Amino acid sequence: MKKFLALLMTAMLALALVTAGCGGSEEKAADGGAKVLRVGTEPSFAPFEMQADGSDEFTGFDMDLIRAIGKQLGYKVEISAMGFDALIPALQADNIDVALAGMSITEERKQQVIFSDPYYKSGLLVMVPKDNNDIKSIDDLKGKRIAVQIGTTGAFRAEKVEGAKVTAFNDNGSAVLEMKNGAADAVINDAPVLKYFLAQGGSEYAKTVGEVLNAEDYGIAVKKGNDKLAADINKALNELKQNGEFDKIYNKWFGEAK
Ligand code: ARG
Repeated sequence: MKKFLALLMTAMLALALVTAGCGGSEEKAADGGAKVLRVGTEPSFAPFEMQADGSDEFTGFDMDLIRAIGKQLGYKVEISAMGFDALIPALQADNIDVALAGMSITEERKQQVIFSDPYYKSGLLVMVPKDNNDIKSIDDLKGKRIAVQIGTTGAFRAEKVEGAKVTAFNDNGSAVLEMKNGAADAVINDAPVLKYFLAQGGSEYAKTVGEVLNAEDYGIAVKKGNDKLAADINKALNELKQNGEFDKIYNKWFGEAK
């Protein structure tokens, strides 16, 4: 009898666990552990998201941030890579719960997704070959060849340059390579990413010119209608700012200056 009761209780517990897992997109991990947060990113955007050569581990500011947020909210964070222009469709199709990719909060995107509170202040910059002395700002790009990453605010800005021939690549490395190979005159990308690239050795053959254009804030995107998750993320973000964890992650990737 005792054995039967114990069995019955185990069965009931298992049932309770299974039903508890049936809440929206909060899926159970295969190991029966924490609920899973499916995060999509595009990892050619150092120091926000990147993968070391031959490694499938995701590193960078955004990646540390979402892991900290996940921990705060009791989620197991699972990150997958996709094209930058595939992130919003993946949210809408419910293939991911969160898009985190240095994504600028824009009016157009706000029609499609919910953004968290801004977590990073950014903007665009123009990069040209080091030995180029004709291009001093975006105004000198008229009629020039500009390389960008597909679907980004840099790409949208390049499209507005009169007579420019814009080539959009799936990843940032290819856009930079196009310029390095002499097939593009300039790259337009986010300022912190270009600065990081130059500091990591890119300054051997490239430089940025002009002022930072288009002040832009990054936000964490979730599917429209998923207000609960957006609110949870904002709450966690706030807590991480209060308890010093956010600054720790920030300083790890950007140094003390803020
Ligand atoms: N901030 C820019 C935008 O939202 C570029 C972001 C690119 N991010 C990436 N992970 N490749 O369009």
